[in-house]
Amino acid sequence: MDFLAPVYSQYPIEVVSAEGVWLTNSRGERVLDLYGGHAVAGLGYAHPAWTAALAQQAQTCNFQTNAVAMAVRARAAEALVKFSRLPFASAFFVNSGAEANENALRLALRRTGRTRVAAVEGAFHGRTAAAGAVTWGAAAKWYAFPRTPFDVDFIARGDTAAVARQVTADTAAVIVEPVQGLAGAIDLGAPFLRALRQRCNETGALLIFDEVQCGVGRTGHPFAANLHGVMPDMLTAAKALGNGFPCAALLLSAALSASLTPESLGTTFGGGPMACAAICAVLEAIESQGLLARVRHLGELIRARCVTGPVIAHQGAGLLVGLRTSRPVKQVQAQLLEAGILAGGSSDPQVLRLLPPYILEDEHVDMLADALRELPP
Ligand SMILES: Cc1ncc(COP(=O)(O)O)c(C=O)c1O
Repeated sequence: MDFLAPVYSQYPIEVVSAEGVWLTNSRGERVLDLYGGHAVAGLGYAHPAWTAALAQQAQTCNFQTNAVAMAVRARAAEALVKFSRLPFASAFFVNSGAEANENALRLALRRTGRTRVAAVEGAFHGRTAAAGAVTWGAAAKWYAFPRTPFDVDFIARGDTAAVARQVTADTAAVIVEPVQGLAGAIDLGAPFLRALRQRCNETGALLIFDEVQCGVGRTGHPFAANLHGVMPDMLTAAKALGNGFPCAALLLSAALSASLTPESLGTTFGGGPMACAAICAVLEAIESQGLLARVRHLGELIRARCVTGPVIAHQGAGLLVGLRTSRPVKQVQAQLLEAGILAGGSSDPQVLRLLPPYILEDEHVDMLADALRELPP
């Protein structure tokens, strides 16, 4: 611990093992994980098919670069495009959400030859130069680069009237989390997303959905693009995509895909066979275990049962849940942890964020409801 760079305030728990939706701490106590490691553990822990896929791939061939064809990589790309049920033409695999966004923005700037990007207030898109540039508040908090690689215009959430002002003939791309995650699970909704799509069509800007947190089944649909019926030109996915094996993807429309040539994009580790085996296992499990329907059901159950005790309202979509609290979330989080439940915070000090595994059971929702009911309002 002493040798780790001191850049994270830590939850007061040390995890030694995990299975299903349960963590075991260093005192041997079980803790119900409703945070899923920042939305990563969609299948929970020690999922048999995911574990077996990684073990088998490790034995078969643990790595080859993108310059060497591998069937598992081709399978992962096909599985992801088909899983999306959206008319994407191809997938480019990278290592992290920020890297996926970085590549999406770069493609948009190059394809349009323009110099501005529009983003939405409250958004988080990652910590690299371009992704950080479109992250709300980054400059004041941590950005640190002397200038951003392009000019950025922020649109107030839900302000359809501002869309025409901020997205112009100079705008290369609009990047948006359809359901904002870190901001506290804020569903931007179909009308706002449709307004962005329409304005991009009018101006020739490219629409990028950052579904790093809200995608891969988290809303109870393959992506929030499906939930809201709006098709972006590019979509980025990460987090639950690998269930903890680091990976991310950039999904591309047919037009963008056709514009690419060798060397347009590149990476060493992205699309490695271990990552691709993990992606195949995750998407297969979501389909074969009926997890999209389960996520929709659990999301409804949480919203119906958990507005109790200090929780006064809910927001978000599916299992990207924001629970608004009557008092500081830090207190509620600490009290829940004492009751054996790990929940997340958000950039809103009065919104508790839940990002549980999709394999959660109804009884676990009851545990949360019971624990909240016991807390002072
Ligand atoms: C919506 C969104 N975009 C991008 C990122 C950055 O992803 P990564 O940490 O994998 O670079 C995150 C991470 O929290 C995120 O929530």
